[in-house]
Amino acid sequence: MSKQLFWSSSLIVLLLAFLSYSANGDLQLNYYAKSCPQAPEIIKQQVYTLYKKHGNTAVSWIRTLFHDCIVKSCDASLLLQSKNGIKSEMTSNRNFGMRNLKYIDVIKAALEAKCPKTVSCADIIALSASEGSPLLGGPRMLMKTGRRDGRSSFVAEIEKYIPNHNASISSFLSIFKSVGVDTEGAVALIGAHSVGRVHCVNIVDRLYPTVDPSLDPAYATYLKGRCPSATPNPVAVEYSRFDRVTTMVLDNMYYKNILAHKGLLVIDQELASDKATAPYVNKMAADNTYFHAQFARAMVILSENNPLTGTQGEIRKDCRFVNA
Ligand code: HEM
Ligand SMILES: *[C@@H]1O[C@H](CO)[C@@H](O)[C@H](O)[C@H]1NC(C)=O
Repeated sequence: MSKQLFWSSSLIVLLLAFLSYSANGDLQLNYYAKSCPQAPEIIKQQVYTLYKKHGNTAVSWIRTLFHDCIVKSCDASLLLQSKNGIKSEMTSNRNFGMRNLKYIDVIKAALEAKCPKTVSCADIIALSASEGSPLLGGPRMLMKTGRRDGRSSFVAEIEKYIPNHNASISSFLSIFKSVGVDTEGAVALIGAHSVGRVHCVNIVDRLYPTVDPSLDPAYATYLKGRCPSATPNPVAVEYSRFDRVTTMVLDNMYYKNILAHKGLLVIDQELASDKATAPYVNKMAADNTYFHAQFARAMVILSENNPLTGTQGEIRKDCRFVNA
């Protein structure tokens, strides 16, 4: 072998090793094929049954994946409750409004009954999101498994990773870029705001004392009806749906709404006017298939953010607490 060939082939080997490392090669399709072959089907069934009883569980699984994976790692740290020196991430303002986490325990119980201490809570979060999406008319997505559960809460750092309702587009884009999601993918991901709701605390700044001029006036009147006070009682469940047109459908109506100045959050509305994001907003508003393809692609990237694998972390027995 010539010296040159030797060096270039060594370089390729190194490059491949690096690529498989950085692409989280430890996650696999059907990781539980031997240890718990029925796991994907159990999760699928549970997500379906829960959806039939409480339709918005499927909405929650999409948001849960975002709020767990964007903060350091897809490690189910979001599910930890406060106990024994752990302060739950759910105590952060940025996780306000998160609901249905108690039903993760129902899914976990069904898995524990068949395969004790085998399937991680982090994989439950990933597969619940991928099963929930098509139930809402969203895209199918193929998610790898093999994530392990973390043993710590990142409550102190949440605000670095989860933007506020009034964050700038540039900070929003840089957070996603840091986990490998490009602008197109980030614009698709926030399209999850095609389903679910927003509590008035996250909207009133746009209504009082004066109405945000980027908001359609008739829509502002409607929102004032939903949120009659500038200082909503945080305990009273006052909210408005993100999308009044196709409320429980994960479709491109979100983009049509923001183009019509009917975005709920400041960041939703800015997406339609910012130079970096507007071209994708227009494209997604015009083409639901394109939106779905980008949403699925970006969700898979997000779901593979920095997972714990191999001997890292643990398989939690109860998703709410680290193992004793
Ligand atoms: C990165 C910028 C984002 C910001 C600032 C943001 C902010 C918010 C806020 C303030 C709410 C309302 C919470 C409440 O008042 O109850 C919300 C709800 C929601 N978000 Fe986001 N979000 C962002 C991105 C995402 C992404 C990437 C996803 C998923 C892929 C997502 C999924 C959802 C869902 C499904 C809801 C509705 C939850 C429910 O009805 O229970 N969001 N978001
Ligand atoms: C964003 O909204 C919060 C209240 O939810 C407020 O305290 C903060 O000052 C706002 N930030 C900007 C940049 O407007």
